Amino acid sequence: MKKIIIWDDKYLTGIEIIDSQHKKIFKGINELFNDIESIETKEKILEKIRCIDFYTVEHFDTEEKYMLELNYPEYFEHKKAHEEFKKVYEEIRYNYIYKEDNVYVLAIHLNHTMADWLDYHLQNKDQQLAEFLRTKL
Ligand SMILES: [Fe+2]
Repeated sequence: MKKIIIWDDKYLTGIEIIDSQHKKIFKGINELFNDIESIETKEKILEKIRCIDFYTVEHFDTEEKYMLELNYPEYFEHKKAHEEFKKVYEEIRYNYIYKEDNVYVLAIHLNHTMADWLDYHLQNKDQQLAEFLRTKL
């Protein structure tokens, strides 16, 4: 299965912690996709999904903490985007656990939401935030 989202330096923000967290999220997604055909148990797939979830939540918390501490004017809008992502991600996970346990369906859903969302969010919202943070940190 081909990689859904490939790291590109266009996503760099210049804020070290944010860049390293973004890379971890990409790595988690690609690991899941590269291994999806060879992972034997649902539990193992769920472990990988939980890993991506952990990286994502950890990362959103970091950004939100910066935004609050430094009075980022777009805080609510940016946080809303994070919340929307978490909701969609949770739905995909829920469907995989309780409704449709086909890994390919999971892969297609993750592909659509994560690749599109991350690509847009990193190049827009996170770049705007980074621009602000670079003047403050
Ligand atoms: Fe963000």
